[in-house]
Amino acid sequence: MNTVQTLQQLRAAVARARSEGKRIALVPTMGNLHAGHIALINQAVERADFVVASIFVNPLQFGPNEDLDNYPRTLAADQSKLLDAGCHLLFTPDAQTMYPQGMAQHTIVSVPGVSTGLCGGSRPGHFDGVATVVCKLLNMVQPDIAMFGEKDYQQLAVIRKMVADLNMPVQIFGVPIVRDADGLALSSRNGYLNAQQRASAPVLHQCMQAVKAQIKHGRRDYAALFEQLNTDLQVAGFRLDYVELRDALSLQPAAVQSTQLVLLAAAYLGSTRLIDNLIFDL
Ligand code: PAJ
Repeated sequence: MNTVQTLQQLRAAVARARSEGKRIALVPTMGNLHAGHIALINQAVERADFVVASIFVNPLQFGPNEDLDNYPRTLAADQSKLLDAGCHLLFTPDAQTMYPQGMAQHTIVSVPGVSTGLCGGSRPGHFDGVATVVCKLLNMVQPDIAMFGEKDYQQLAVIRKMVADLNMPVQIFGVPIVRDADGLALSSRNGYLNAQQRASAPVLHQCMQAVKAQIKHGRRDYAALFEQLNTDLQVAGFRLDYVELRDALSLQPAAVQSTQLVLLAAAYLGSTRLIDNLIFDL
């Protein structure tokens, strides 16, 4: 597996693969790779002949008080995991390559509707940063397919809409959430948790499963269910950011006719913000 940093090297390597008739996959990441990221690589290896991963901690998607500077950077370990998983090329651009004139001067891709509310409500500008960098990476690599995790459910919806609206010639695949044995969704941010917080962290998933079970049993008093979830999370030391029930396809608030639903939540443990979601049928 080669690691390249410049756009010229990237394009040369991808052009070579394409000239050999290979189907190309892209897996964009911010590094500090775990089994969730590797599940995306595994899917890509299954569906394509030449798998490109990218690692770029994208400053454009971090708010002023967020964890950009502390975000874990573990390139050597990431390279070895990618190699083991069968990735063919790793692209690790620097900020100069991605934003040569600086971020303030850069064109912004803004996806209306699905970017608002949920994480978009708590993190203003976040999804503009995500859509912009993913649009650039897709244009740089020009893959046939690209893989994204359902862990970041709203992000996946934003990317699907961007690709559809802008007629981008790429097929997007969503990959189910990979969890630890105790149910906690894997995330690079789990590394910020101390031992006590890590022990409490699976409570988020447990509370969400309890809400899902109640809804599947016919309860529709969502406000009361969410109040109970809030109380249970507080007992476990969380501060709830949001919990919402949405239509899994449109990401609009769940309607009477919605048959596939997604329960989405974000909550803080100390200063660490965890997100999770559960998709289910009614
Ligand atoms: P990052 O958080 O590194 O995640 C990269 C990809 O891995 C995303 O598609 C994310 O949804 C997926 N992923 C993370 N944890 C997962 C888990 N437990 N199970 C399944 N998939 C998981 O998301 C980003 O980076 C960035 O916003 C990016 C898309 C790279 C744009 O900068």
